[in-house]
Amino acid sequence: MSTQIILPRMLQVGKDASHATPNILESLGCHRPLIITDKMMVKLGYAEKIQAVLAEQNMSADVFDDTVPEPTVASIQSGVNKVREGDYDSIIALGGGSPIDSAKAISILGKFGGEMRDYKFPRVVTEAGLPIIAIPTTAGTGSEVTKVTIITDENTDEKMLCMGVGFMPVAALVDYNLTLSLPARTTADTGIDALTHAMEAYVSKKASLYSDGQALEAMRLIAPNLRRVYHDGADETAREAMMLGSTLAGIAFSNASVALVHGMSRPIGAAFHVPHGLSNAMLLPAVTEYSIPAAVQRYADCARAMGIASQQDSNDTANEKLIAELKALNEELKVPTPEEFGIDRTHFMGLLDTMAEQAIASGSPGNNPRVPSPDEVIELYKQLWD
Ligand SMILES: [Fe+2]
Repeated sequence: MSTQIILPRMLQVGKDASHATPNILESLGCHRPLIITDKMMVKLGYAEKIQAVLAEQNMSADVFDDTVPEPTVASIQSGVNKVREGDYDSIIALGGGSPIDSAKAISILGKFGGEMRDYKFPRVVTEAGLPIIAIPTTAGTGSEVTKVTIITDENTDEKMLCMGVGFMPVAALVDYNLTLSLPARTTADTGIDALTHAMEAYVSKKASLYSDGQALEAMRLIAPNLRRVYHDGADETAREAMMLGSTLAGIAFSNASVALVHGMSRPIGAAFHVPHGLSNAMLLPAVTEYSIPAAVQRYADCARAMGIASQQDSNDTANEKLIAELKALNEELKVPTPEEFGIDRTHFMGLLDTMAEQAIASGSPGNNPRVPSPDEVIELYKQLWD
């Protein structure tokens, strides 16, 4: 059996990697880029910095900054219109996961028309939209190297999973400098998301030797540095490791898929507007504990890659240490329980059936080493309130 691996054509990694934007555009034969970003990136001056770098090479770029967290069909429409009305030949996607996910959708809809719903999974999108140069400003989503975007249908609250090589950025500029001023909360949430990507890719039923290598290296880079970047955002060594770790974790899960944590996390996000990394973090200890019996060796490998268990530890000991570490991490990074986040218990309990249904329908739980029944998913949701 063979595995298809899909990657960006170019990766630029390290301090000031974003300064390579004009060279990358040049090598693609593109001269009319549109920067797709959000208001925060404009406010922080990041969009202007990219424009300045372009200006040095006599290039200019318009800016579309109306992307929102958890992009919806409505939220991307004005971006689609802008692309249709303009003569852009490329897109620079600048920001966290949401601007990059928005840019992926705008690239396809801007060029080919139609509605987002037409492109959702199980359709595999192989059309080449406007080429995307992705510049992430968080170490977390891995969206710069994934062939996936998630756009919410605001009428049904459905998080539509869209995938295929058509959504893969042609280039990713992985510049940890852009994460140095990220607030501690976002640093923690996105960092735990990246750790979850690496773990889930490694235990996924779709894991391959290729994705294993990326996932293990991602855990080696992320686990020892997550606390460091949370407590000291200016720690460049730790930021650099987190940034590369996040990109490798993205490559791992894009080519092996995520699993039960992500499957259960999306409905919590959709119903209660919990940031993606936070709902993952809430679920990670309980879902890992549930899944370990079906993949004892794999989870023990995770514990060893994360540096919290030694080669001498038995697999069972390593897995006990893994659970303890995930709980300790949530505590230290101040991950709230659903109750502390402000979710109403009765409301949550009333949505259990719907959330379990949505989780299973997403397909991600089917990739988990232990595939849960709807009742088991409900039990796991309930455990968040114990
Ligand atoms: Fe994620």
